[in-house]
Amino acid sequence: MDLIVKHGTVVTASDTFSADVGVRGEKIVQIAQALEPGSGTRVIDAAGKYVLPGGVDPHTHLDSPGQGTVTADDYLTGTIAAACGGTTTIVNFCFQEKGKGLREILDHYHHRAEGKAVVDYSFHSMIADLTDQVAAEIDTLPDQGVTSIKLFMAYRGSLMVDDRTLARTLDRASRNGVLVMVHAENGDAADLLQQRLLAEGKTEPKYHATSRPPRVEAEATARAAALAEVIGAPVYCVHVSCAEAVEEIARARARGVRVLGETCTHYLYFSEEDLDRPGFEGAKWVYTPPPRQKHQPPLMWRAIASGALQAVASDHCPFKFTGQKDLGLGDFTRIPNGAPGIEERLMLTYQGVNDGRLTLNRFVELVATAPARIFGLYPRKGTIAVGSDADLVIWDPDLELRVTQSALHHNVDYTLYEGMTIRGAPQTVILRGQVIVEQRQHVGQPGSGRFVPRQRFSI
Ligand code: URP
Ligand code: ZN
Ligand code: ZN
Repeated sequence: MDLIVKHGTVVTASDTFSADVGVRGEKIVQIAQALEPGSGTRVIDAAGKYVLPGGVDPHTHLDSPGQGTVTADDYLTGTIAAACGGTTTIVNFCFQEKGKGLREILDHYHHRAEGKAVVDYSFHSMIADLTDQVAAEIDTLPDQGVTSIKLFMAYRGSLMVDDRTLARTLDRASRNGVLVMVHAENGDAADLLQQRLLAEGKTEPKYHATSRPPRVEAEATARAAALAEVIGAPVYCVHVSCAEAVEEIARARARGVRVLGETCTHYLYFSEEDLDRPGFEGAKWVYTPPPRQKHQPPLMWRAIASGALQAVASDHCPFKFTGQKDLGLGDFTRIPNGAPGIEERLMLTYQGVNDGRLTLNRFVELVATAPARIFGLYPRKGTIAVGSDADLVIWDPDLELRVTQSALHHNVDYTLYEGMTIRGAPQTVILRGQVIVEQRQHVGQPGSGRFVPRQRFSI
């Protein structure tokens, strides 16, 4: 054996037990008590620590265009931040520029990631313009290891698709085992409210929330679920932010529709009051859907604990406060939408374990196992089992930290969680048998992350 993680408490989505984890090459080969190291076996002592499967983040925007600029993290800085936070696999979005084919876009993103990524990665396709040629390309995606497509029901005039496009994509994708993901907001309604607010001289960041109330999200969620129902397709709702949308998902699931949903860490913590911080600071909280009223975050915790939502993603969409967010000074609709969070995701979700809101196993399921299952990575990723990739996080449940920008690894100039005290953090992170993070610092090599082809949707 090349590596043994000894004396730890192994935690999966279903079990918690004391065992050593033995690794040969890139794979887990044994899980048992008191494994004996051979000569040359590296031993990592995990006494008093949890041994978790590496996190799987199903929603990131590295090196992606958005609102006239490009996200600030490339595959090097973004994946170093992911690794330091305990995430060993990401699935990144590949924005389709109108007029371009899906293969061409995927090739572009492969090129951007290769030689840089330090964790494993995969891609979601994205369709803004469903030409007949693009529709035909959907059939070829699984052979390229890409088994999900995102559509935007919002962002009128740029990315937004109509119901015909949504219906045709659901139909063609589901025939191919490709999961359609929706950004569910009624883009026409949001656009109308934005124009009304601007005409009234309401230009500050706080109006971002006023322009996209919960019903805007709930309506689109219900519509996507209804289309999925009549077509007989599954659908996955990204970044669910409010109880109204969770209710629509629950209603559809009660009818037997295969609707799945994720929320993101920031919807567990923030409210629209953060958008109204002094000066222009609220721009940091301009992500879409917006932070909601104060009663919503506890309801989102309940939704992930109860199983009403299946996963917690970061929606890491990093724009610098100085030089990018300030494109929207004087007009909130021009603030690039998105926030960083790839490094903070596991630590902030884990606080739910400390608070008694989540079991330890549910935490693992939300941040690793469920995203791996839903997106065709399981059991290679997302669990600790013989034959799985040796992606492991040695988690110190007692480590207390103050979250602060200077200690994070992303390429942006702020964290939403500045000054928050947390307990529980990754100490050592292992990717396919190689230690890539020690004491919260990256010790691996650029390019050590690999593209992971994904299986067809099958749950
Ligand atoms: O504000 C967000 N979520 N920006 C990223 C793009 C998206 O809608 O996922
Ligand atoms: Zn979105
Ligand atoms: Zn996103």
